[in-house]
Amino acid sequence: IEVKDEYYPRYHLAPPYGWMNDPNGFSKFRNEYHLFYQHNPYSSQQPGNVHWGHAKSKDLVHWEHLPIALFPDQWYDKNGVFSGSALVDNDTMYLYYTSNLDHPGQTPDHEQHQALATSTDGLHFKKYEQNPIIAGADLQPNIRDPKVWEHNNKFYMVLGHSINGTDGEALLFTSDDKIQWTQASTLLQSNGSLGFMFECPDFFELNGKFVLLFSPQGIKAEGDKYNNLYQTGYVVGDFDYATNVFTPLTEFKELDHGHDFYATQTIDDHGKRVMVAWMDMWDNVYPERADGFAGLMTVPRVLTLDRNLNIVQKPIRQRAHRHHALHQPGPPHAALELPDKTAEISIRAQKDSVVDVVIAQKEATDEDYTSVRIHFDPVNGTVTLDRRGADSIRRTQWRPEGRYLTWKILVDASSVELFCGSGEVTFSSRFFPRGKVTVSTDTSIRRHSSVRISPVQRTVPEPN
Ligand code: FRU
Repeated sequence: IEVKDEYYPRYHLAPPYGWMNDPNGFSKFRNEYHLFYQHNPYSSQQPGNVHWGHAKSKDLVHWEHLPIALFPDQWYDKNGVFSGSALVDNDTMYLYYTSNLDHPGQTPDHEQHQALATSTDGLHFKKYEQNPIIAGADLQPNIRDPKVWEHNNKFYMVLGHSINGTDGEALLFTSDDKIQWTQASTLLQSNGSLGFMFECPDFFELNGKFVLLFSPQGIKAEGDKYNNLYQTGYVVGDFDYATNVFTPLTEFKELDHGHDFYATQTIDDHGKRVMVAWMDMWDNVYPERADGFAGLMTVPRVLTLDRNLNIVQKPIRQRAHRHHALHQPGPPHAALELPDKTAEISIRAQKDSVVDVVIAQKEATDEDYTSVRIHFDPVNGTVTLDRRGADSIRRTQWRPEGRYLTWKILVDASSVELFCGSGEVTFSSRFFPRGKVTVSTDTSIRRHSSVRISPVQRTVPEPN
């Protein structure tokens, strides 16, 4: 497959060719970060033929592609090596994944089991001979996306499950030997409001509380029955390792307010909780398919929990040329051309300013999704991201905490990530500008305001 670089990211991880969805197996092995992902190496047009693609990084900024780690080559995974996670123990990497088997025309029409593969070099993976290690339930085929961790020499796994296809739930399994698993508890159930399936659950301690993070899968056609969520969110609570009981303290909250943010995965990096998400979404438009690839990852973000039990996200610092800033204080600014379709935009304005940022394809066109407008309305206290086109507006409440509005915006060839304040509100969206990209900013600016736009260096390999 030949991949063109019109929409191909310069500093976000994307597949070298073909299709990418969920991040998998995010881990640290011998001082390097490993990130795997759902990958169809044969086509950028659709998922299917699901393998685990593989990349690694020393700093979560520069990435290197590695050979495909897992192939759908066994009887139990021949219709997909679905999502899962990694555990590093005794200098060995353990990959836990869902093995998918389709039965077209039958009821149920597929089955899902949990399987294991190991590696001693972080490069070659061997599937466990007695796979699958957890057999799927007979009647309910949707049970998947194992996320594993260790606590006090015991091993834990959270799995997403669908109760009779109507309500999602997160199940907790435990193990003493990493191979034999038994169900210990149910962490949370949808109860009619959070979709029919919890995809890609994750469960971890954050600033003294526990976070259950997952992607609820609903049915659009059924209106708001399942909140119509195609995005990712979390419930904060208390958890007792003695009883395995999770006690929620919050309602479900959305983690990101943009169009393209799904199937997150985190790791504990020496006490720091780092997350990546798939920066795309099922049912999306995917114009990049024409370029020979589809899907990319968000920049990794460090998570913390604030006093109101909201998750705050801070992006890992990218290689921005701050000393080559294209603009310093004194907006409004006319449209400015970005050298390589990348920018780190830092904005500071008085909190009652109207702020407007437009990132657009230089050649004017009526086509959808070729520009993004980000707007702050100080009267109503709202942030809006509009990528112009069908179903294009995303909006949420937000007000600066101090005297100043501060925003950080990361632009890469076909994506934009907005971090408001200290990262208590974020938006992640794709857009598809062809040719040159420009940025213009306008704020009802007075003193102590500034806009800095810096190019960002390439830190991912060029497409094949
Ligand atoms: C989430 C998901 C997972 C599944 C994988 C298949 O996007 O549907 O639940 O394991 O994608 O590629």
